[in-house]
Order: sequence, then C-alpha cells, then structure tokens
Amino acid sequence: MTPPRKRSGDARPTKGGQGRPTRRGPQSRTSRSASGSTKRSQPTRMPAASATPDVDVHDPNGVRLQKLLAGAGVGSRRQCEQLIADGRVAVDGVVVTELGVRIDPRRQVVHVDGERVVLDESRVYLAFNKPRGVVTSMDDELGRADISDYLQGRTERLFHVGRLDADTEGLLLLTNDGDLAHRLQHPRYGVLKTYLAQIPGPVPRDLGKRLREGVELEDGPAAVDSFRIVDSQPGKALVELVLHEGRKHIVRRMLAEVGHPVISLVRTQVGPIRLGDTRPGRWRALSSAEVGALYAAAGM
Ligand code: URA
Repeated sequence: MTPPRKRSGDARPTKGGQGRPTRRGPQSRTSRSASGSTKRSQPTRMPAASATPDVDVHDPNGVRLQKLLAGAGVGSRRQCEQLIADGRVAVDGVVVTELGVRIDPRRQVVHVDGERVVLDESRVYLAFNKPRGVVTSMDDELGRADISDYLQGRTERLFHVGRLDADTEGLLLLTNDGDLAHRLQHPRYGVLKTYLAQIPGPVPRDLGKRLREGVELEDGPAAVDSFRIVDSQPGKALVELVLHEGRKHIVRRMLAEVGHPVISLVRTQVGPIRLGDTRPGRWRALSSAEVGALYAAAGM
C-alpha cells in the first residue's frame, strides 16, 4: 500500500487564514524581500541518492522518521513506514529503508520520491491574497496599510517573496525560509507568475503574438511566456498573462505599451502555487506537497 502524496492543488488551509486587518501593535517587523527578475522555472529532482549509505544519518537524540513524515502530512504513520521500507525516502541524500531511524528535523534534509519534505515545524509557508490598496511591506515607513496588518498573532519573521504593486491584488507568498524565498526570486530559476488583467476592449487578434514576441520598455524588452483572452466584450476584456519576469510594474507597463492600460490586475499563481479560493486579506498555510513543489521550482 502506498499513500498518495498530496499534490499541488490539494492544499487546504491547515491553520486557517486569519487575515482580518487590525492595526499593528508595538512589535513591528521590517520589510524583507530578496529581489530580482526571473526566467522559466526548471523544477529539479534531488541528487541521485545512494542506497549504500556512506553518511550516517542517525541522530540518537532525534525523532523517528515515520513520525516526522506523518506529522508533515505525507500519510499515516503506517503509510510512511511503507514509504521508507519501499526505499522512497532519502535523508541527506541517502535512501533510508530501515524503520526507526531517528533524525534531526531542523538540520537534516528529507526527500520523498525526490521531492523535498520540510519537517522543521518552525518553518512557515503561507499563501496570502494581498488586497488592493495594501503595500508589499511588513512595516511601511509611511504608515500605510501593509501585510503585517493581516498577520496579527503570527510571531515569525516572515519574508514576502517578491512584490505586488499597491493597486494589484493577489497571491503573495510569505515565509521565514530565507533560502527558499531568495531562490524563488533568482532569475536563474525563472519561476512563472500568472496574472489576470482587465483591460479596455476590444482586444485585437494579434495582441498575444505581439506580447509573446516582446515589447520595448524603457528598461529593455519584455515578453510574456503565454497569453490568452479569458473574456472579451466590446468595452472590456479579461486577459491572462504568464511571465517569468520580475521587473517593477511589468504587466502594467507592457499592456500600456500595446495600448491596453490595465484597469485592474490580480496575480493568481506563483510557480506551482495557486491562489485558489483564498479571499483578499486572507492567508492559508501551504500543504507539505505545495512546499515540496516550491522547493523543486527553486531547484532545491
Ligand atoms: N506587474 C505589475 O505591473 N504589477 C504587479 O504588481 C506585478 C506585476
């Protein structure tokens, strides 16, 4: 019996999205975000694991591997034991088939079927639906509404992964995993982002072609990876754009350049993570499978 690993899109809130805006208390956090543009995502697998360990993965003071995996939502304790016995679990790159191995979840790296499982419970990964009018900062210097207003009760120092304009709504990943946050924004990994834009219509037939071929902006050419018309009416259209670019106001600038300035803009997906039905101002914890997929997207 092999437990089905949860896939991206299976995610359900595990801690409930609290996101009701309240004013900041005295402990304000600073804005932290590694910046950078991105290109196409190249998910990777873990390095080939050795079946004959030359590394001792045992930590006598650690926690049993199957207990950690079950706690991370990989499956029941019994199912996780089976995964281990089947040779599908690696610790620090070494396949572990022995039951009862104890490891340190904060220090050691675990993969199941080549996908990273984060066992360190101090790590936090949230999908936040930033509302319009909220600035992408954990502590806005000008006292405007910012992300921290929606995170009351969370004590971790969270990074926002990239930025959205104040006028843009949608998915912003928040985490205290600095390495992952940094890699997700690194141009080398080119994580794709999906946007829905409302623009003035009608949309000419060749608009997608022009955007795919690239338009000239003041800081250099920019192109979408894909474009589609979701809805088109005489005065207004809804279009979807997918980009690996991370430059400031990139979607607004591109659409203005082709004569269709944005009326409203929502980001619906970052790499493998979808906004789903998380409402503006709410957040949800990512599932273990979603975190694994993000690690893969970041080549980790
Ligand atoms: N492009 C924009 O124009 N704005 C955003 O917030 C994100 C991408």
